[in-house]
Amino acid sequence: MQFRVVTDQPWDVQTDLLVVPIVGEPSFTGPLDELDRRTGGELRALAAFGELRPKRYATALAAPGGLPVGRVLTVSAGDRDGLDREVVHHLAAAAERRLGGRTVRRLAFWLGDLADRFESDAALVAGIVARGLVEGGYEPGTIYRETVEAAPPSLDEVTIVAPGTDRAALEAAVRRGQIIGEGANTARTLANRASNDVSPLVLAEEARAIAEHHGLAIEVIGPDRATELGMGMFMAVGRGSDNPPQLIVLRSGREGETDALGRHLAIVGKGVCFDSGGISIKPSERMEEMKMDKTGAATVIAAIATVARLAPGTPLLAVAPAVENMPGPHSTRPGDVVRALNGKWVEITNTDAEGRLILGDALTYAERLGATHLVDVATLTGAVGRAFGNLVTGAFGTPQDWYEAVAAAGARAGERYTQIPLVDDYVADMESWYADLQNAGPAEASLVKSGLFIREFRTRPWAHLDIGGTAYFRKPTAYAPRGATGVTHATLVELALAGARSA
Ligand code: BES
Ligand code: ZN
Ligand code: ZN
Repeated sequence: MQFRVVTDQPWDVQTDLLVVPIVGEPSFTGPLDELDRRTGGELRALAAFGELRPKRYATALAAPGGLPVGRVLTVSAGDRDGLDREVVHHLAAAAERRLGGRTVRRLAFWLGDLADRFESDAALVAGIVARGLVEGGYEPGTIYRETVEAAPPSLDEVTIVAPGTDRAALEAAVRRGQIIGEGANTARTLANRASNDVSPLVLAEEARAIAEHHGLAIEVIGPDRATELGMGMFMAVGRGSDNPPQLIVLRSGREGETDALGRHLAIVGKGVCFDSGGISIKPSERMEEMKMDKTGAATVIAAIATVARLAPGTPLLAVAPAVENMPGPHSTRPGDVVRALNGKWVEITNTDAEGRLILGDALTYAERLGATHLVDVATLTGAVGRAFGNLVTGAFGTPQDWYEAVAAAGARAGERYTQIPLVDDYVADMESWYADLQNAGPAEASLVKSGLFIREFRTRPWAHLDIGGTAYFRKPTAYAPRGATGVTHATLVELALAGARSA
């Protein structure tokens, strides 16, 4: 997909399809009036017919009249007050998805009055649009098959149409948005791939290929070395499978090097290539979704590659503990007591609460590698999805100013988070008779406790993003297909880039 930026008026752009965003009730004044005039009144006719009501991501196709384009596609942003970065992102993706199965090679996206809500920052909006168009073209149906009917068209050329703007600034923003979108799609494919395809070893191979391609350092710790190091929690989860556990570490920049903000940031992602629950086996209903339990790992691997593309050499660590959680003669049993890498003794009362175990050791290891600030991403609980659905990621963090730095990166990325409190008093519910703590306790506030457990295994500023609800969609929406959403990738990239010396 080749992007270009033009500062021409939308009626002067030659293309197969012109996208026209509609914010609120369309008012036919200024350029929209002129555009309508040149279509011979098609847009007004659509409005009169009730097609342009402010319903978010609703689309309508119009004949071009005298415009040098094949078709005009309107996409509604919904009401003006609700227009934020997330809406711009989803609107652009919805435009691209709406073209599924159509023969479009060249698309032009007119920014219209989208930038009005962003202090006329057209570059900001153009970057988000580019990212949305790239992500909107994502089709998981072709991971294994050659072709899929009604897949979004693969575009040769995308033109961002932004009259009266600074073209160079928009071009830079568009390139950045495109790269972030491509990174999200990389994460999505790794996450969507089946468990018989992506074992921990295969995930490590994929990480190796990515590291080579982007000049990242890589270390992969297999079961022998993990045991030797004392990663008792990581090994407790991985030991039940014939597919050996692999702890994947990627690094950009030099060992222990701090970034422009004085941080050595580590992003840590849960890589459970399949979560059967282990001996605490899950019910069979929807168990196939647990191939997605490696989404956190997929996301941090893709995010460090994206950062390397946008700001090479930025100090950053990505740690992805990869395991398969399986029942078998070698599996951990409920009641087993293991020693974590940080020396704490842990009683594993529920082998299905495995994410916190592998993350705990991975966080300790990241600190040993010099990490001063930590963020983990994990499909950690079903509870977060029941509470907040698939559009809001549950986030924890301490101290509060680090939480806020992560939340601010999320806001820049147009991703939605809600903070979940780390209520100290609930730690008592995780006390064990035999160990320093147990990995699962009474069901009350289990979401809070999942964060409290992980908190025990780091000493530095840390945030935890629970994408149990947001990692994947069970059915398609206007802007995304079923499957992995790429959520948190852009947040991690924004967070890391805040410490970049170039970019
Ligand atoms: N991977 C699951 C969480 C999950 C479930 C994510 C469904 C997305 C969709 C995790 O390992 C798990 O099983 N968590 C348990 C924790 C409980 C045993 C304390 C849960 O949420 O039920
Ligand atoms: Zn589990
Ligand atoms: Zn899991």
